[in-house]
Amino acid sequence: MSFPTRRLRRLRTSSNMRKLLQETTLSVEDFICPVFVQEGIDTRVSVEAMSEIERLPLDDVADEIGTISDLGIPAVMLFGIPEKKDDAGTAAFDDNGIVQKAISQIRQNFGNKIVIMADVCLCQYTTTGHCGIANGEKIDNDLSIDTLAKIATSQARAGVDIVSPSAMMDGQVATIRAALDKEGFGDVSIMSHSAKHRSSFYAPFRNAAECAPKFGDRKTYQVPFTNPREAIREVESDIEEGADIVMIKPALAYLDLIAKARDKFDVPVAAYNVSGEYALVKGAAMQGWINEKDIITEILYSIKRAGADMIVTYFAKPAARHLQS
Ligand code: PBG
Repeated sequence: MSFPTRRLRRLRTSSNMRKLLQETTLSVEDFICPVFVQEGIDTRVSVEAMSEIERLPLDDVADEIGTISDLGIPAVMLFGIPEKKDDAGTAAFDDNGIVQKAISQIRQNFGNKIVIMADVCLCQYTTTGHCGIANGEKIDNDLSIDTLAKIATSQARAGVDIVSPSAMMDGQVATIRAALDKEGFGDVSIMSHSAKHRSSFYAPFRNAAECAPKFGDRKTYQVPFTNPREAIREVESDIEEGADIVMIKPALAYLDLIAKARDKFDVPVAAYNVSGEYALVKGAAMQGWINEKDIITEILYSIKRAGADMIVTYFAKPAARHLQS
């Protein structure tokens, strides 16, 4: 008989041994729960292709935040769906807009019990469905960043903690930072969707938020999934522009970039476990092809293991329940 000289199985002999040796941790405190709030509806609407995810009327927001907060989830990310869209995306920076109303309601009801984050983008609000302002078929970068800054300051007036620009316009972080500071919102943080890739994994979200582009695609502003060095340059420029937290998005097909960003920079790194990633799991689970709970756990650990400090995930509520039990 030959005897192995290295026995790694020694470290796996019992549950407590395995706990002691566990290198990666996952906690409810890592989660940011997305919330869709829609203007002009009075009951919840299910999102197609995202089983158990709903768009909420304003009246249901406080209730939902209560559930999220009671589970110990520390933060929410708000997305608004306005009643009216126009070329300028006016509803996005209206102080009485749907997201602004949701923010102030949450602040009033919950104080500092939950971190309020809001998406800063235009695609739900523009008739074109693009993340910036269109000039003909082109998305005008510099016009767009001024509007994004207006959205951010309007959300700040409503009481947001963290604004989260996701439009992928050059200079959006610097312009937002300057606008916030100028209006006295030095304490409002920026979590930038820094390396947001042009991805087919967003399809269910576009349905949820009614924000599919009406012409063309997002290839002129989102990062090509073939270009990891360019993605890191996006992260780097956001840090230089003043981003407090940077994000890699989507998460699973981009774990290499989460690891790279974690390695290269010392700012907090977030990952967005996006709608398509959710739909794939739910779809297979509904067929009985996988064990949903185990798959969710493994996926969230893998995102942590890659180096993410926090995860925006539609699994936040079920995963919080799993971690409790
Ligand atoms: C829009 C936006 C998108 C997502 C978040 N913000 C879609 C897109 O860029 O087309 C996707 C999130 C998800 O799929 O869960 N700015």
